[in-house]
Amino acid sequence: MLEYLYPFRTYLIVSGVEKPNVMTADWVVPLSLNPQMLGVAIGHKRHTHFLIKKYGEFVVAVPTLELLKDVWTAGTVSGAKEDKLAKMSLTLIRSRKVKVPSIKECQANIECKVVKDVETGDHTFFIAEIVDATFGDAFAKGKPDLNYKFLLHASFGKRFTTNSKDVFEP
Ligand SMILES: Cc1cc2nc3c(=O)[nH]c(=O)nc-3n(C[C@H](O)[C@H](O)[C@H](O)COP(=O)(O)O)c2cc1C
Repeated sequence: MLEYLYPFRTYLIVSGVEKPNVMTADWVVPLSLNPQMLGVAIGHKRHTHFLIKKYGEFVVAVPTLELLKDVWTAGTVSGAKEDKLAKMSLTLIRSRKVKVPSIKECQANIECKVVKDVETGDHTFFIAEIVDATFGDAFAKGKPDLNYKFLLHASFGKRFTTNSKDVFEP
């Protein structure tokens, strides 16, 4: 029944330090403003799951539509089996407060440290404090610039969409 929650925003999760990995994730949730916290649900079988457990850190990177091909690769290939990064054209750069890198091509990189993990069936919900963040032009005015095409997953499977420029005030 989770299909009724879609469309969802789609993100990239960076994990790992010596050999970093990038995975696609829809299930990213804001949890607290003070301190700033978020949660991400990661399937037990993902290489990302192993790396977040190992290092206790991850980065949530915000892609736009231009990165769709890489988002699909990150979401369908496992870094445990293949050199996934070699199949993508993303540039990993140093983060500010965590050892896990950020992604240059993304419009924001939110640096997270895990404070708790909760088992939820076949996923683990990693609850994390946001320790720093960097952002690109899409957020330069303090709120998202809707001329940028943020990525939304339309439904389970190979269907994506994006936001419009329309803004409605109730
Ligand atoms: C659009 C999209 C969204 C996804 N969202 C999630 C998610 O929120 N949580 C999750 O565990 N897997 C999610 N996946 C599946 C993982 O990205 C996929 O299994 C990936 O290959 C795991 O990579 P890894 O083994 O290198 O960590 C998603 C896949 C796609 C294509």
